[in-house]
Amino acid sequence: MSKPRVFVTRLIPEKGLHMVQEFCHCEVWTDETPPPYEVLLEKAKGVDGLLSLLTDRIDLNLLDAAGPSLRVISQMAVGTDNIDIPAATARHIPVGNTPGVLTETTADFAWALLMAAARRVVEGEKFVQAGRWKTWGPTLLMGQDVHGATLGIIGFGRIGQAVARRARGFSMRILYSDPQRRPEAEIETGAEYATQDELLVKADFITLHTPLTQETYHLISEAQLRVMKPSAVLVNTSRGGVVDPDALLTALHEGWIAAAALDVTEPEPIPADNPLLQLENLIIVPHIASASVQTRSTMAKMAAENLIAGLKGEKLPYCANPEVYQ
Ligand code: GLV
Repeated sequence: MSKPRVFVTRLIPEKGLHMVQEFCHCEVWTDETPPPYEVLLEKAKGVDGLLSLLTDRIDLNLLDAAGPSLRVISQMAVGTDNIDIPAATARHIPVGNTPGVLTETTADFAWALLMAAARRVVEGEKFVQAGRWKTWGPTLLMGQDVHGATLGIIGFGRIGQAVARRARGFSMRILYSDPQRRPEAEIETGAEYATQDELLVKADFITLHTPLTQETYHLISEAQLRVMKPSAVLVNTSRGGVVDPDALLTALHEGWIAAAALDVTEPEPIPADNPLLQLENLIIVPHIASASVQTRSTMAKMAAENLIAGLKGEKLPYCANPEVYQ
């Protein structure tokens, strides 16, 4: 029997790629940047499976281009906002993702950004690099204390809760907002449920852990930034679209809040001439919150397992649209 045909949209860690190559006849896009949409349409034509990344737009048009042979989409990411899930479900195509494995790694990184923004680590490093360090300064690069402060977590799923566990070690008061109340997590982490408005007003640090949906698009915009404390620090490791970048630019420029740190931006990547890059009180890094060697390798393996299960007609071990099986 001939091997199934798949398109892998970038070079993924060896552990997963090897599994895919063993089982499938696969074409791998080896450029550093994703295949342009038009190329993706072409490459998807007639494949049995797609191994995608969050940089690939998988919409109705692409499903049409792929045609009826496509029987699984396996995404190496937990977020699937780049995929038209209802359209895939309507065509009985299961969509795999990689939840769980990146929870702690992403929470570690949100914490690293929070600490870095609070204590102005990146500004300090640039200061030294620029040869501006003349002496110990009594008021040099003063930042915000993390210990004992109030942390506001917007989106209290797996990653939000993992951030809360870290905050306990810093004796923080933890507030969370979420569409649903999470009594078990409240007991485990000591977090208190708050409305989003209350959280925005009270928190010294605000960290975002919601998926990107129609409801969360620009969840943090001018109105929300205006009610935050002038000393507040905003951290986003969720999706760029959750924060309105124009409002953030004004807020940081005019001092409505003290600082921000973004792992994700809108658009992504952020163009080199974007005025946000001129701000000293903003850290931007290139969407690397889950990028530990171990976690990315495990994500690649999970994506391969999902892909292979789908090609075999088996239930995906990690499925983003379980309704496809109903
Ligand atoms: C990363 O952002 C992911 O969704 O896995």
